[in-house]
Amino acid sequence: MSQPRVFVARAIPPIGLDLLRPHFEIDLWTDPLPPSRATVLERVQGCAGILSLLTDTMDVDVMEAAGPTLRVISNLAVGVNNIDLEAAQARGIAVGHTPDVLTESTADLAFALLITAARRMGEATAAVKAGEWKTWDPLGFIGADLMGATLGVVGLGRIGRAFARRCHGGWKMKVLYSGGRPQPEDGLDDAQAVDLDTLLESSDFVSVHVPLTTKTRHLFDAKAFAKMKSSAVFVNTARGPIHDQKALYQALVSGEIAAAGLDVTDPEPMDATDPLLTLDNCIVVPHIGSGTRSSRDAMSRIAAENLIAGVLGTTLPFSPL
Ligand code: DGY
Repeated sequence: MSQPRVFVARAIPPIGLDLLRPHFEIDLWTDPLPPSRATVLERVQGCAGILSLLTDTMDVDVMEAAGPTLRVISNLAVGVNNIDLEAAQARGIAVGHTPDVLTESTADLAFALLITAARRMGEATAAVKAGEWKTWDPLGFIGADLMGATLGVVGLGRIGRAFARRCHGGWKMKVLYSGGRPQPEDGLDDAQAVDLDTLLESSDFVSVHVPLTTKTRHLFDAKAFAKMKSSAVFVNTARGPIHDQKALYQALVSGEIAAAGLDVTDPEPMDATDPLLTLDNCIVVPHIGSGTRSSRDAMSRIAAENLIAGVLGTTLPFSPL
């Protein structure tokens, strides 16, 4: 008897593919760039499962193209904003994602962006490479202090809490948060829940850890940046469209805020001519929050386990539904 066919939308760490092989006929997209829309619509036809990435839009058209055989869409990400969850639910298609295993790696990257932006390391490195390091300069590259600063975490969920733990435990920062809540094991008993405006007005560092939804799209717009301290650093490791990129550029140019560190942009990939890349006070890395060996291996494993469970019709180990 032939095995069910699944479409795997990119090469993933081998641990996941090895789990899938005994169960499925795998149609693996091996190109380093995502499959085109037309390719996806063609390749998913008759599939029992799709292993998708955050770069693959999984909407009604994809579900219809796959047809009635489709039982599961398993995303290799914790975020599922690329999937039409309602449409999946309406069709009885299970949806999987990969929470927890990238929490610490993403929190590490958020902290790396915070300290890089605060201590102006992007500019300083560029100056060294350009041969501009002429002497020790008492006035050169003066940045912000981290110790004892006030941190604003927008979305104190899994990653927000891990980030806050680093900042509070290591750098004794006072933690303000809007949305979510600390857990007893976080050691964040003094963290204060505040409304977003208070958080923006009072924080030295503002870091975003909410999912992208219709409510959070452009949560950071011109008005939000205007409320922040002129010395503030903005960090986004969640999803690019949560900030309005033009407004962020204006805020950085006008000095409304001091600096930004971005792992996510709108759009992705960011165009090399994007005006943000001309700014010394903006650090951008290409969506690498979960990019550690253990996180990516675990994501691959969980995505495979979700896919297998979905095709077999058993409960998915991790589903956002
Ligand atoms: C996610 O998992 O949603 C990240 O953005 C990529 O790892």
